[in-house]
Amino acid sequence: MKIKILTLFPKMFEGFVNESIIKRAIDKNVCSIEIIDIRDYSLEKHKHVDDTPCGGGRGMVLAVDVVHRCLLDNSSSNSHVVMMTPQGSKYNQEKALELKEKEELVLLCGHYEGFDERIRKYVDEEISIGDYVLTGGEIPAMVISDSVIRLLDNAITKQSHEDDSFSNGLLEYPQYTRPIEYDGMRVPEVLLNGNHKLINEFRKKESLRKTYLKRPDLLENYNFSKEEEKLIEIIKKEIGE
Ligand code: ADE
Repeated sequence: MKIKILTLFPKMFEGFVNESIIKRAIDKNVCSIEIIDIRDYSLEKHKHVDDTPCGGGRGMVLAVDVVHRCLLDNSSSNSHVVMMTPQGSKYNQEKALELKEKEELVLLCGHYEGFDERIRKYVDEEISIGDYVLTGGEIPAMVISDSVIRLLDNAITKQSHEDDSFSNGLLEYPQYTRPIEYDGMRVPEVLLNGNHKLINEFRKKESLRKTYLKRPDLLENYNFSKEEEKLIEIIKKEIGE
């Protein structure tokens, strides 16, 4: 997959592309990430990319012509262009799985007060990473790239994302490692005996328990199997409901 990130602050991505799993994915050709400076598409001597809002008001607005030139130069019919904005539809794991199938993602980051409304004509969709306002679209672009890249073949082991929270509609089961005993807390015995049938049962139940306690909203539309229905009843009794 090719990812292009259009930004006014390219340096913000230096750490992102040069560390950890993202760097390894780039080195292994799982994906490429190109950071493009929107400012290079300003025709002005002083490279302005924004202007005051028509009709007055606070702040500055990113100009449509500069962004359009940048998009024309950095996208093709194979590109899926996503604009980062708090006005977009809310991002989740399902969307990450959908974006992972795209050949080329072009992520457009805004800054200042916002984009000229007419920019919306040139994008395929608008995404928000949550109901809060950030200073720009750079962190959202990292969130989206990171969550998509880790789903690509050979980025991490497949099992790692099959067990992810949200991937099967539930939160992930609890994980432990050595030391077996710490500060009075012991790793559950079932994880130490090597019986994989019992381990899987434990994980399924604890995944349901976590979801029930922390994110009951996820269970509202969840398709319970007969076994899971029984487990939920047992969990409710265990927690005194
Ligand atoms: N730009 C500013 N805030 C944002 C958000 N929550 N999601 C996406 N882009 C943004």
